[in-house]
Amino acid sequence: MNSFSIIFLVCLALSSLAIKALNVSYDGRAITIDGKRRVLIAGSIHYPRSTPEMWPSLINKAKQGGLNVIETYVFWNAHEPLRRQYDFSGNLDLVRFIKTIQNEGLYAMLRIGPYVCAEWNYGGFPVWLHNIPNIELRTNNEVYKDEMKNFTTKIVELMRHEKLFASQGGPIILSQIENEYGNVMGPYGEGGQEYIKWCAQLADSYQIGVPWVMCQQNDAPDPMINSCNGYYCDEFKPNNDKKPKMWTENWTGWFNNWGGPVPHRTAEDLAFAVARFYQYGGTFQNYYMVIINAF
Ligand SMILES: *[C@@H]1O[C@H](CO)[C@@H](O)[C@H](O)[C@H]1NC(C)=O
Ligand SMILES: *[C@@H]1O[C@H](CO)[C@@H](O)[C@H](O)[C@H]1NC(C)=O
Ligand SMILES: *[C@@H]1O[C@H](CO)[C@@H](O)[C@H](O)[C@H]1NC(C)=O
Repeated sequence: MNSFSIIFLVCLALSSLAIKALNVSYDGRAITIDGKRRVLIAGSIHYPRSTPEMWPSLINKAKQGGLNVIETYVFWNAHEPLRRQYDFSGNLDLVRFIKTIQNEGLYAMLRIGPYVCAEWNYGGFPVWLHNIPNIELRTNNEVYKDEMKNFTTKIVELMRHEKLFASQGGPIILSQIENEYGNVMGPYGEGGQEYIKWCAQLADSYQIGVPWVMCQQNDAPDPMINSCNGYYCDEFKPNNDKKPKMWTENWTGWFNNWGGPVPHRTAEDLAFAVARFYQYGGTFQNYYMVIINAF
C-alpha cells in the first residue's frame, strides 16, 4: 500500500464519521432545515413504554408508514426516582432511543416538559418533588423552579454531550418546554404569567441551536413557537405571523376510562383532518400516538 492510498483510506474513514450539522430555523410558513421549508410528519413513541430491543423495529414501522420525525416526552419521575439519583438504564436509555431514531434516518422532537401529562403517573413529576417544603408546582415559585431547572439542564446537557441536537449533527430538530400550560394557567394568576416567561428564558438560555415549542400556550413568548394539540387544528393560528403552524398532538384516539366506552376515531376522519391541516398552511403534525406500546 503506498502512502497515497493510506491517506485516501484515512480520509474515507474520517468522512464517514463526520456528521453534518443542520441549521434548523423557522419562518411564518414552515420549519426550515438548511434554509429549505419542510413538511414534517411526526409520530409519538414513548421510549419507557417499550424495550430498547423493540425500538429499531417500532421506529422503522413508523418510517415505512411515511413519517420523518419521532416525537417523545421525557419522563422525569422515571429518570430521577430519588432526588439527584438518576436512572437512564434499560427502557429509560434516552440517549440510545434518540440514536436509534438517528440510525433509522429520522428526525426527533424532544419534549422535555418536564411536566408532561402523558397518561403517566403524576404527569411525570417525582413524588419527592411534592414533599419539598414551601414548593408550589408549575408556578413562579423559586423552590420549584430550581428543581425544574436542575432536571431540564440535566437532560439538555446529556443531549449536548452526546451531540444529539441537529445543530451538532444529531437528529433532534425541535424541543419543547412545559406542556399544555395554557389550559391550566388561569387560576395561577400573575404567578403563571411570570412562570411562562421564565420557562421561555430558561429554554432560550440553553442555546441548543434548534427551535423550542410550547404547546397550547397562546401567549408563548418569542422565540418559543406556540402549537396546537387536539382533534382538528386546521383553524389554529400561531401567535404571530413569524411563527409556523404546528400541531404537536393529533389525537389518533383517546384513553379508556375504567368501565367507560372504548373511544374510537376512524382512520378516514384522521386522514381528512391531517390533509386539511396541511392544506391550510401547516408545516408539522404529529400522530399522538403512532405506537402506544407493543406489549
Ligand atoms: C439558518 O437558517 C435561517 C433561515 O433560513 C437563516 O435566516 C439563518 O441565517 C441561518 N443561519 C446560519 C447560521 O446559517
Ligand atoms: C442540581 O442540583 C445539585 C445539588 O442537588 C447541584 O450540585 C447541581 O449543580 C445542580 N445543577 C444545576 C444545573 O443547577
Ligand atoms: C387528531 O386526531 C384525533 C383522533 O384521533 C381527533 O379526535 C383530534 O380532533 C385531532 N386533533 C385535531 C387537533 O384535529
